[in-house]
Amino acid sequence: MPELIFNGKRIDIAVGETLLAAIARAGEAAHSVASSCPGAGRCKECIVQVLAGSDALSDWTQAESFLRHHSDSEVAVHRLACQARITRADAVVRVEAFKRKLDIAMNGRAAADTFDPWITRDGARLLCDGKEFGNHAGSIHGLAVDVGTTTCVLHLVDLSTGDTLDMRAFENPQRFGGSDVIHRISYDGHNPGQLHRTIIAYLNREIRSLPVDPNGIVALVVAGNPTMRDLFFGIDVRSIGQSPFMSATQADILAGRRRSTAVWTGGQELGIDIHPQGRVYGMPLISNHVGADTAAVLATLPLNDRPFMMIDIGTNTEVVAGCESRLLAASCAAGPAFEGGRLGCGIAACEGAITRMRRRPDGWDLSLIGNGPARGICGSGLVDILAELRRTEEIDVLGRFDDGETRVTVADSPPLHFTRSDASELAQTKAAIGLGQAVLLRHLGIGPGDLRAYYLAGAFANHIDLESGRRIGLLLPVPDGHVVRIGNASVEGAKGVLRSRSCRDRIEGLVRQIEHLELEKEPDFFDLFAEMTQLQPISA
Ligand code: FES
Repeated sequence: MPELIFNGKRIDIAVGETLLAAIARAGEAAHSVASSCPGAGRCKECIVQVLAGSDALSDWTQAESFLRHHSDSEVAVHRLACQARITRADAVVRVEAFKRKLDIAMNGRAAADTFDPWITRDGARLLCDGKEFGNHAGSIHGLAVDVGTTTCVLHLVDLSTGDTLDMRAFENPQRFGGSDVIHRISYDGHNPGQLHRTIIAYLNREIRSLPVDPNGIVALVVAGNPTMRDLFFGIDVRSIGQSPFMSATQADILAGRRRSTAVWTGGQELGIDIHPQGRVYGMPLISNHVGADTAAVLATLPLNDRPFMMIDIGTNTEVVAGCESRLLAASCAAGPAFEGGRLGCGIAACEGAITRMRRRPDGWDLSLIGNGPARGICGSGLVDILAELRRTEEIDVLGRFDDGETRVTVADSPPLHFTRSDASELAQTKAAIGLGQAVLLRHLGIGPGDLRAYYLAGAFANHIDLESGRRIGLLLPVPDGHVVRIGNASVEGAKGVLRSRSCRDRIEGLVRQIEHLELEKEPDFFDLFAEMTQLQPISA
């Protein structure tokens, strides 16, 4: 009988069975091996490191070609767990989950509200909005938590002074449920509660590592897109994944059962290892797929009569535009391409990722994360390669190579290629994002030149080259002087709410005023989308 040792644990496996099937059957896929296709070799998420016994595995499949050249048999072989099969009855194969160290934006533009906490202490009495909810004699602290689909960031705040004492960042451990919200919703439907328990367990681990008494943490503010926020709170997310794509809290408002999409509960109810009566506040959602993370970003922006646009580029991209008197919001189903998903050459922003690319006559000038060889191209590099290939006219507006080729070589050793199908996948993604921006401007009756501020939120936007982004039509033609990169403004907005009752109340009121646009209901949606797939600047 062959033997599989996964993360140090023995698992039964049959000859001919894939590693992923055995790992999943043993209940070990959770917390470790991601899978969004699932098992079809498309999502490239189920990478494992084979530490021993690779000669007892089946030959590399076509889906694994990108890994073959990056595996060093002296150190470790990387395989897709859904593709590698056991070939011998006497096999002993030792495998570990593949760990990647992501480049995570820890902070960003801060909310400007003055320190005015809604959690206070009077002697040993803990007060929330002036009402007693528990007792604690020592120092009191709070956590602002941004739960992103890919990464999570938390800030520890001293609730007596408002000072930030510490920060933590980690990859969202729910990755095993898929890389985007649709796969997470589906996973949660088949495995109710597992994603919720996983994020709470990881949060507890981070809390234990903080330099304060967990019992003195008396408040948590949580921001996230509707799926991430509601999975955190253990709320059923199925309705977010099907038309009309509404969270349970939004549906409750429409049915007159509640007045706000914000949620309140206690640390004990959620199993979070803080003060047992600690208050946990989920920031309000805006509408449909536009969530509490966008509300948190808005908490950091100055709202006045000057038109602005904010885009937060991720697997789901949110766009908000307008001014104080009228704000519009939309979500764009961008998909994971700019995070490296579904691309032969793509990779997340981690060690070995190419972040910047410039074409030269005999090859490329590359900037990488870390000192090792190039393992793939992450978001900012992908924007660059499209823009550079357009600048040199090696590809046309449809991403076709002018010389009839199907790919261009980025690096020789190990070999890395950018293909026609990579260009086409990215063109679809950038079309979704460009379309969202264009539709919001159209509804406001303004053009890019009318924007007084163009806020770019998130880690990807922190690194994107503005000229490259404009050249391929991912970014609007807004002058550099009006572009403001605001980093992880979501965690900063959550912190603003934690520090200030007026900030919390202001955002609760603001989200009710925002008009949500469903892009696919635009009468010319398909024409506009087709136009936006073209790799050229958006017209001014
Ligand atoms: S599960 Fe293996 S590539 Fe998607």
